[in-house]
Amino acid sequence: MDSQDQAWADEFPIIEDGDDRPARRPDRFSMGELIERRISRREALSTMLATAAATTVPMGLLSREAQAAAGSSVSTVGIQEIENVITTTHRVSAGYTAKPLIRWGDPLFTDSPEFDPDNLNAESQVRQFGYNNDFIAYMPLPRGSENSSHGLLCVNHEYTCPWLMYPGIQERSALTTEEIRNEMAAHGHSVVEIERGENGEWEMVPGSPYNRRITADAPRVRIAGPAAGHDRLKTSQDPEGLWTVGTINNCAGGFTPWGTVLIAEENFNSYFAGDASGTSEADNHDRYGVGGGASFDWRLLESRFDVENEPHEANRYGWVVEYNPYDPESTPVKRTTLGRIKHEGATTIINKCGRLVVYMGDDQVFEHIYKFVSRDPVDMERPEKNRDLLDEGTLYVAKFEEDGSVDWLPLVHGQGPLTEANGFGSQGEVLIETRRAADLLGATPMDRPEDVEPNPATGRVYAMLTNNKKRESADTANPRARNIWGHIIEIVPPGAESGDSQGAEQADHASTKGTWNIFLRAGDPSQDESGSVYHPDVSRDGWLMCPDNCAFDNKGRLYIATDQGSAQARSGSPDGIRITDTTGQGRALTKLFFACPVGAEMCGPCFTPDSTTMFVAVQHPGDSKGSTFENPSTRWPGEADSKMPPRPSVVAITKNNGGLIGD
Ligand code: FEO
Ligand code: CA
Ligand code: CA
Ligand code: CA
Repeated sequence: MDSQDQAWADEFPIIEDGDDRPARRPDRFSMGELIERRISRREALSTMLATAAATTVPMGLLSREAQAAAGSSVSTVGIQEIENVITTTHRVSAGYTAKPLIRWGDPLFTDSPEFDPDNLNAESQVRQFGYNNDFIAYMPLPRGSENSSHGLLCVNHEYTCPWLMYPGIQERSALTTEEIRNEMAAHGHSVVEIERGENGEWEMVPGSPYNRRITADAPRVRIAGPAAGHDRLKTSQDPEGLWTVGTINNCAGGFTPWGTVLIAEENFNSYFAGDASGTSEADNHDRYGVGGGASFDWRLLESRFDVENEPHEANRYGWVVEYNPYDPESTPVKRTTLGRIKHEGATTIINKCGRLVVYMGDDQVFEHIYKFVSRDPVDMERPEKNRDLLDEGTLYVAKFEEDGSVDWLPLVHGQGPLTEANGFGSQGEVLIETRRAADLLGATPMDRPEDVEPNPATGRVYAMLTNNKKRESADTANPRARNIWGHIIEIVPPGAESGDSQGAEQADHASTKGTWNIFLRAGDPSQDESGSVYHPDVSRDGWLMCPDNCAFDNKGRLYIATDQGSAQARSGSPDGIRITDTTGQGRALTKLFFACPVGAEMCGPCFTPDSTTMFVAVQHPGDSKGSTFENPSTRWPGEADSKMPPRPSVVAITKNNGGLIGD
């Protein structure tokens, strides 16, 4: 890294919604463990193999049209790239339509008030679409069908940006208790029925009986699995340790084959204030960054967010929540078997043995990649049999070996170091302190694991590692120190070596073994110091920074959603969607398909079952340096001359000729 790049890394801390909030790490990141390598032999090999027959014309010298023509000979991605610049609105490739479908504040129920930015209040907000949409699941109607023109959009609302919601607010600490109440109502999750009309356009169905809001303080959420009822989950509000109210900081997620949705609690620590050092949870809270000055000072409203008052309350967050979107009265359930971490997503696949495997990332610098394997097989004939399937099974954490193998280490009480002697009295306690258990097992500290998702077309698994500027020395799985760019790891379960449909059938996601490669190293390839690695034909538009969410279309192409945080201003590149093949001649040849407006991160890419529509979530539009409610950097998706603040929104993308996205 040269001095200019170093200055960049220092100037732009890449703090995205508190993801880098300090949490104490054990002193095991010694130089001996972290092996400095500029580029590993395996990485060089896999990239060369993948691109051996590709053209090597220096694409940066060609026009955009010529790039598209040259790229088409090696890639199955048939789009014409858009220009790699930041603007005040969204953009999509020629031949596609991208229409904002649901906006923050849109009414969901027959009695919902219209959105009124001059009169924000919790009573209205609980009847309207929430703020900062992140994960999206499209759940077809009727349940179990493959209907691609009628379904439920299930959308997370991760957090709020009060400086873009209210006049005169620079910081959260300026919020009144009434404004905090509104903020809590804008968190959580929405279910919205949507339908594709005769004209091919998607519309929401206001007042649908399926429509639902889940917020930071409603409804009751049941706690299930080995940690349920544990003493360390008991509070004055819930002396039995069996339920919470609401869910917070739901970032990414997943859905199950039996039609439920998984919503993941990420930066839960940001909501808990107070000095935890004198409490029984001091070390545990330190490991998760709980306590001290909270980003959200919700203890003004509810004393449970004060760690001195309720030291156990924070242990009730950081879980994956499962709920049934087809029943608006259903009780969401925290599945403690899936561990307590800063959960990014929870993506599922039925393994060849019939059991369910859930892949998950813990999004913080030096945290880990996990998977859960259910004890019992999924029963697709009798879906009710799967109701509590996620309560029994084994959680594993990944150790990436230098020789290119990966070991999945079980977090099982009584095995290895996870014993009473190390403070783990039960499996529940192993799960409450998932991070410490993973540390003791020797899991690999990664560069902020965001989405980890299996490609249904090949059986290979892709982990988005968004960045880690705090890494002082590289290792093979995290090959750059001060990694401000991010990278993507490809995990190959046993049986998935072929990279085709045969691999998809034979992949053993339940195995404790596998191999891995670096799929790409992000960054601007025209800047040598980034050390980026892509297909050599990647264009001046196609490179990316900070991979975060991802999705696969029916042909197994990878759609990468990016989130640079404040570094967007420095890279000059918009967050958005880049598409690439994962195998063949077009491997790692990323192409820019959709761009967010200024200040926004890209979240939630999600397809209808037939891959003719992709939904994306534009999160915190206008959240750029100096942007305020009075003078925002964009009023997207509204008009520039309106009085409307920027509004986080879900966008529906379709191809004008009705074909498959990406072809
Ligand atoms: Fe909320 Fe990891 O992004
Ligand atoms: Ca986010
Ligand atoms: Ca994310
Ligand atoms: Ca992120």
